[in-house]
Amino acid sequence: MSLKRFIFAITGATGPIVGLRVLRELSRACEVHVIISATSFSIIRDETGIDWTGDDEAGVQEKIRAFAGSDLIHYYGDRNFHSPVASGSFRTDGMFVAPCSMKTLAGIACGYANGLVERAADVTIKEGRPLVLCPRETPFSAIHLENMLKLSRIGVKIVPPVIGFYHRPEGLDDVIDFIAGKVLDAMGVEHRLFRRWGE
Ligand SMILES: Cc1cc2nc3c(=O)[nH]c(=O)nc-3n(C[C@H](O)[C@H](O)[C@H](O)COP(=O)(O)O)c2cc1C
Repeated sequence: MSLKRFIFAITGATGPIVGLRVLRELSRACEVHVIISATSFSIIRDETGIDWTGDDEAGVQEKIRAFAGSDLIHYYGDRNFHSPVASGSFRTDGMFVAPCSMKTLAGIACGYANGLVERAADVTIKEGRPLVLCPRETPFSAIHLENMLKLSRIGVKIVPPVIGFYHRPEGLDDVIDFIAGKVLDAMGVEHRLFRRWGE
């Protein structure tokens, strides 16, 4: 059986810890092509203490691999339109954006491929591949909701970081695992992040 291959993007919304949890789980058994938007580097640093700022692509890739404990990770900067993920001829099993800022959501909804995250999402949609977004903002405006509805209607999975309580979380770690697990569920990726209701 060949390894599944996903694109994984982190954009500049609060909560990159959720994306990092998904990334770590995903890269245990899948090839993952990572894009991190310019704004999210400083948010990752400020919210988690993980500092990937100031490195070139190879440097960031090395650090992400060390973080996730996986050599199955490849990294591209958000301006690298020559990267494989910028083209539909590079085959993938789908793409995640977690968290997804309202700016990136708008770009994807309008087909405005300003950075590599939006370009890769645009390609994923045009090739008919699965796309999972974890949009983070509160409250959502009508513009945000319309963008989500537009994408949902063409099959994009919208999985905002909404807390569940039925699994009785004991702390923030459990909450993050739950949300990260729901993001992976939306792509049909096996994970061990939470116990399922009734199992
Ligand atoms: C600390 C911090 C937290 C932010 N949180 C959010 C957020 O939760 N949702 C959002 O849509 N934008 C948020 N923003 C604003 C985005 O980072 C900004 O709109 C940026 O242009 C997004 O670009 P990107 O999607 O390319 O990363 C935040 C910015 C900062 C500095």
